[in-house]
Amino acid sequence: MKIVGVLGAGAMGTGIAQVALMHGHPVILVDNDHGALERAKTNMRHAIQREVEKGRVGPEATAYTLETTDRLDALGPSGLVIEAIVERIAAKHDAFRALSGIVADDCVLATNTSSLSIAAIASAATHPERVLGVHFFNPAPILPLVEIVPWLGTAPGVTRETQALVDSWKKTTVVASDTPGFIVNRVARPFYGEALRVADEGIADFSTIDAAMRELGGFRMGPFELMDFIGLDINLAVTRSIFEALGFDPRYRPSLTQQRLVDAGMLGRKTKQGFFDYRGATREPEPLIDREVGERVFDRILSMLINEAIDAVHWRVASPADIDLAVTKGVNYPKGLLAWGDERGLDHVLEALVALQTEYGEDRYRPSVLLKRMVRNGGRFTT
Ligand code: NAI
Repeated sequence: MKIVGVLGAGAMGTGIAQVALMHGHPVILVDNDHGALERAKTNMRHAIQREVEKGRVGPEATAYTLETTDRLDALGPSGLVIEAIVERIAAKHDAFRALSGIVADDCVLATNTSSLSIAAIASAATHPERVLGVHFFNPAPILPLVEIVPWLGTAPGVTRETQALVDSWKKTTVVASDTPGFIVNRVARPFYGEALRVADEGIADFSTIDAAMRELGGFRMGPFELMDFIGLDINLAVTRSIFEALGFDPRYRPSLTQQRLVDAGMLGRKTKQGFFDYRGATREPEPLIDREVGERVFDRILSMLINEAIDAVHWRVASPADIDLAVTKGVNYPKGLLAWGDERGLDHVLEALVALQTEYGEDRYRPSVLLKRMVRNGGRFTT
């Protein structure tokens, strides 16, 4: 079994190491913080024990081979190293430069980065053709989706081999191009951004928007309860990074309301206040009271989401099938956005966007050129 090296024993590195261990790989976990390594060992032991008790893996899963160390050169025998250290390009460059001098020539070097360019990280490696992104979601042992992200110079065999390996870990893999936010973080932006815009304009309040998305759309959580759960600071940082990386496209413009709440330290559930207040008794989501407003809000946000997914197809971020798989497995949407577009009618989606663009005169609401072409040619994404 291939030895899997994991660099960084934080939330993600620990989860990824656990996944590899549960699938029989010897794992070498490296972190320069001893406390992080100790916590990782304890958390993994308990988590794997729980998986065995629940019958999800056999008792042999507890007999794993794990080495934890602060020495980077311990990663020498790895066939694959997954890097999950701090999200800073200088730190990633140092790590990939150092790793290049340690691992064998045929070792694959992967990064779990969410927001940095894979090409930029690969540029520090001696064999950039053996570098790619392997983007897990948090918590890695639970969430099924993994985005496999080759940069332009990744050898096709490395992409295939890595995807097959991660598939063997019972994950759902999709291939995304090395573009900001990959698939999920990019395509999901309007779920938050357009909801914030609707609230900022006073069209509906947070509870009404959430209820509309839950009750009319079948989303498990509304945008505001979900942002409270993720952390407003984390969610805003993702939006900001995509906004900047895509040339300040107004579609991704961060909301001032969200920025002000972050300024105030109201970050969501973790600080007990965000869009909602969690200081009292358990907060129950409110039902949708004004159905007419709800329908309008739901149609607007969903149209923006479908347009975003279609634009991602246009810009070759991923195949239509992988985009729909990514949103259903990565963010639990009730349907793939492209299939949803077919179901609602692409002409209806186009009309909704044209109406918004006409009313506001903003580039934010421009329909994707692919949406226009598909409507003109009577095309569909699904058969
Ligand atoms: P974290 O802050 O929980 O863990 C990072 C770990 O790396 C720490 O234990 C730290 O001591 C260690 N570290 C930092 N620099 C190091 C170095 N030079 N050598 C060895 N160890 C070093 O971070 P987290 O959340 O686990 O994120 C790690 C990576 O995964 C980042 O690139 C992040 O963008 C990405 N990611 C994070 C997700 C999340 O929801 N937290 C989701 C998907 C990707």
